[in-house]
Amino acid sequence: METLPLLNKTILITGAARRVGKLLALGCAQAGADVIIHYGQSAAQAEETRGEIEALGRRAWTLQADLSRPDEAAGLITRANQTAPLFALVNSAAIFEDLTLANTTLTDWERHMHINLTAPFLLGQAFAAQLPQEQTGRIINILDWRALHPGPDHFPYTISKAALAALTRSMAAALAPRIPVNGLALGAVLPPADAGDTSRISASIPMERWSTPEEVQQALVFLLAGPAYITGEIIHVDGGRHLI
Ligand SMILES: NC(=O)c1ccc[n+]([C@@H]2O[C@H](COP(=O)([O-])OP(=O)(O)OC[C@H]3O[C@@H](n4cnc5c(N)ncnc54)[C@H](OP(=O)(O)O)[C@@H]3O)[C@@H](O)[C@H]2O)c1
Repeated sequence: METLPLLNKTILITGAARRVGKLLALGCAQAGADVIIHYGQSAAQAEETRGEIEALGRRAWTLQADLSRPDEAAGLITRANQTAPLFALVNSAAIFEDLTLANTTLTDWERHMHINLTAPFLLGQAFAAQLPQEQTGRIINILDWRALHPGPDHFPYTISKAALAALTRSMAAALAPRIPVNGLALGAVLPPADAGDTSRISASIPMERWSTPEEVQQALVFLLAGPAYITGEIIHVDGGRHLI
């Protein structure tokens, strides 16, 4: 019988109530993990996700925290470890606002940095500090093909993800040898609610299509359960979009 690669490992996934975060949570659960579903405002959807994970035979819990508030971000790891000792942290929660350099206010900038960059920093720092000395763990930061590809659209989002890529590499160096830290840079997975017509996006992707949920889930499970010798790496699951 095949052993599930994440059996009995507890993983905290931020922003896991809905959309891509939920897809990541279900992928971990299908690979055997128990999941702590963090959510901000989507309480009902977090409960639904919990039910879907339990239906797979895994344990699941929900925890609320506003990641725009550094005190709540820092406290989330302690609350999660009190729920079930963590094996891994997946930073997926983020905001993605349609702003240019010209119309980004300081408030917009700071909101993106707090949620997309400061929260993963505080969560990763607390995760490492609380991981028992004799244990190893993993941190995965969810990035975007835009992180390593300068562009004028979604300006503060792009910069926050570029900085998160830098955080991923520096944290990997800081937390070796105990905690591999890697990034998963996604391409077109799900259109944002305010996206309008997305039918032409495939034409800008070398692979000429959106990714499937399974492709994203397989890559995450690889980073969580695969070789611990891989650290500071950023895997693009974007059909080659960052190349052009
Ligand atoms: N969608 C794509 O195709 C795509 C492409 C490339 C990269 N990504 C990356 O994948 C991740 C998820 O993308 P998505 O499209 O699913 O994003 P989304 O629909 O915008 O969802 C964002 C998630 O972040 C959480 N969140 C936002 N602000 C928060 C706050 N202040 N406090 C707590 N939680 C907060 C939300 O939780 P609540 O709803 O509970 O408030 C929600 O679950 C992001 O890191 C994004 O950059 C996605």
